[in-house]
Parts: sequence; structure tokens; C-alpha cells
Amino acid sequence: MKKVHIITFGCQMNEADSELISESFRGRGFEVTADLKDADAVVVNTCTVRQRAEDKAISQIGRLRKWKLERPERRVFIVGCAAEKLGSKKIKGQFPFVDEVVGAKSINSVDAAVERKYPVSGNRYPVTTNSLPVTGYRSPVTAFVTAMRGCSLKCSYCIVPSVRGPARYLPPEEILAEAAAKAAAGAREIILLGQTVNAYAYKTPEAALSFADLLKKTAAVPGVSRVRFMSPHPLYFDDGFFRAFREEPKIARYVHLPVQSGSDRILKAMRRGYTRAQYLEIVKKIRAAAPDAAVSTDFIVGYPGETEADFKESLSLVGESGVSFAYCFKYSQRTDDKGLAPELGEPEMEERLERLLAEVKKNSNDILNKRIGRIEEVLLETGEHGRTSANFVVRLERNTGLAAGSLIRAEITGTRKNTLRGKLIP
Ligand code: SAH
Ligand code: SF4
Ligand code: F3S
Repeated sequence: MKKVHIITFGCQMNEADSELISESFRGRGFEVTADLKDADAVVVNTCTVRQRAEDKAISQIGRLRKWKLERPERRVFIVGCAAEKLGSKKIKGQFPFVDEVVGAKSINSVDAAVERKYPVSGNRYPVTTNSLPVTGYRSPVTAFVTAMRGCSLKCSYCIVPSVRGPARYLPPEEILAEAAAKAAAGAREIILLGQTVNAYAYKTPEAALSFADLLKKTAAVPGVSRVRFMSPHPLYFDDGFFRAFREEPKIARYVHLPVQSGSDRILKAMRRGYTRAQYLEIVKKIRAAAPDAAVSTDFIVGYPGETEADFKESLSLVGESGVSFAYCFKYSQRTDDKGLAPELGEPEMEERLERLLAEVKKNSNDILNKRIGRIEEVLLETGEHGRTSANFVVRLERNTGLAAGSLIRAEITGTRKNTLRGKLIP
């Protein structure tokens, strides 16, 4: 049997795409291997959200030169966001051993590219969705389901809309069929994906479906015990969402809500479309709908023009919003726009990043400690650990002997690093 190895960089949307790509291979009788050495074909699914992500993809491609030379009949496929940005000519120019380049906007053409290299004679092999994981799936009971592709917002710093194209919402039948197939194959937690996933809306002449409707319908799929979503944008929450969030316990009590900056001046320059106060108002509404909900966020430090005073507004937002966690990034210029050139030097960027990370950590510890003594529902990912609805990892004091996917109740007895400790309640 031929084997394909898939290397995925970037966000969950890329991971979901890698899974789709694996189906093209599996339909041609390939098996997915975790070992590059064993593989006949390799796919590098690239990211370019920051320069470093692009550099990582490029050096990964470079490292494949030797692998290809060892057996020239091997095939190299470069796909995804950096492939879209750089283009086939540039990639093949620099790496002549690359066989196929397919950019993120043309995800549907990956199958044709695979076909060019490995034509199917006769029927395709049946593809089952349960031969996962393909990429860095965080658990055997978690499945990603893409609800929308692309993004139609225009955040000044962001390359995603240009490499993924405008927002397109997938038909609800497709989304729900995928969720059902994955639940049937053992997934208990579905994560709906999209760059502004809560903007989801689907209209046909007969019916209209909102994001809240989609969440409820996904929660109702047999076998599904939890629904998560990534990433919502503060602009798109409506009353319907908060109602669904309050009323449907299967919607996870967790919202990852990127803020980017705590300063109104910087938020405006970034064209985020909300103010600090409006962001905090949404966090408040989330907690009003579900008091035990956790909110996490993303920050960018060192955006052009960010003063020490602006940065302090990001620092203070950590405590004020009570986020349980934050991914913090140094600003990376993604356009040729001179106005968007970084103004801070690397040491200053690094210094701000360190200060922000320290603040986030302090706050996270406080929030974790507040969970001690509570009884939490935990979705087991192994016999020994699982996650709460608010997305905290719980390590159990002893192996429960229960299967992954079981929902248990645990008393939280302590914390360790950034996880909770818990005791099974029989
Ligand atoms: N659609 C999501 C974010 C997708 S990109 C949203 O709008 O919330 C993921 C994260 O990468 C962003 O939240 C941002 O914090 C970071 N990011 C995006 N572009 C960046 C850049 N040019 N420099 C540094 N960080 C960036
Ligand atoms: Fe980028 Fe997110 Fe802004 Fe879209 S909403 S442009 S993906 S940061
Ligand atoms: Fe990267 Fe593309 Fe995701 S640029 S963050 S892989 S949408």
C-alpha cells in the first residue's frame, strides 16, 4: 500500500484541510503515515500568518530535497496559505523537486493535483472518516468541521483574506452530515471552524439559518456531547447566540475571542471594528449567559505606533476581561504598505511580549485556582485526563479505566502547571 505523510502548519482550519486532503489520497488507496521515511508522497500544508510561519514552511520544504533524491519517484505537494501567497512559480523555482503547488484558495483543486500524479483506474477506494488522526488532533474524541472558509474583514495587519479569499459559508446539510459522520466514527466533541465563524449565515429562498441555529443543530447530532467553535469575532454576536449559549448545555462554556489590543487607538488602526469597552461588554454578556464560562484571547504586541501607554492598555485588559488564557504574538508585517512597517525593534517587541505573557500567566493561575472545589463535567480524552466544558484540562488522580469519550463528573482538587487535578465522582 502506498503511504502519504502530511505536515500541517498554522491554524485548525489548515488541520481540517489536511484531513480533506488525506481523503484524496485515501480514495486512491493510500494510507496516512506518521513517518516521513515510510512515505511515498508528502504534503506540506503551509501557513503565512506571520513571517516566521512562512519561514518555517520554506525550511521544511528545503529539508525534503534529500528525501526526494533518495527515491525520485516520491512526490511532493505544497499546499495552503503560503503556497497561495508565494505561488507555484516561485516555489518551484526555488525548489525544483516540488511536484505540485496548490494555494489555499484552490483547496478543491488538490484532488486534481493528486490525480495528476496518481491517476485512479476504476473505482475509488471507499474513504472512511474514522481513520484519523491525520494531523495534530488534540484528542481521539475531537473532530473539526469547517463551517466557513475565508474572511471578508479587512484587519490591517492580516494576510488571511488575501490568501483564503472572501467569506463563504458551507451549506448546513454538508456541515451537519460531516458532524454526523464524525460522531458515528467516535467523535464526541465537534469544533466548528471559520475565521469569523459566528458570522455564519445561510440563506436559501425557503429558509434562513443563523450561527445559533447551526450550533443547536450540531448539538442535536446523535453522539455529540459538546460543540465548540473557533474563532468568533466580537462584531458578530447577536441575541440569538446568547440565548442558545444560555439554553443549550452542549455548547461548550468556552469562547476564544481574539481582542488583539486593549487600546482604542490601536484597535482603530487595526480596523477591528470595536472598542475596548465594546469588547468587555461582550465578555460580560457571555458570562451573564453562562457564569462559569471561560474566555480566552489573542493579542498582538508592537503594532506600528503602539506606545507604552497603548501597550499598558493591553496589559490591563488581561485582568479586566478575566481571560483564562491568551496567545500573544509579536507584530509581523504582511504587506508592502510602508505605513505598516514595524516601528519597534526586536528587543522592545520581545520585552513587551514577555511582560504580557507574565500577566497572562498570573491571571490564568488565579482563574485555575478558583476552580478548586468545584464539581466539573469532564469529557475523557484518555482514561486519565479530559477537558471541562470551559476547556480546562483535568488530570485525574488515578486512571478511571473508562473509555475516551465518556462524560464523567470530577471534583477539582488542585492545579498543576496549567491544568486542573481532579477526583472521579462515581
Ligand atoms: N480570524 C481570527 C484570527 C485569525 S489569525 C480573528 O480575527 O480573531 C490568528 C491570530 O494571529 C490573530 O488573532 C492574531 O492575533 C494573529 N495575527 C494575525 N496576523 C498577524 C500579524 N500580521 N502579526 C502578528 N500576529 C498576527
Ligand atoms: Fe484576519 Fe481574523 Fe481579521 Fe479576518 S477577522 S482579517 S482572519 S484577523
Ligand atoms: Fe495560517 Fe492560513 Fe490559518 S495563514 S493561521 S494557516 S488561515
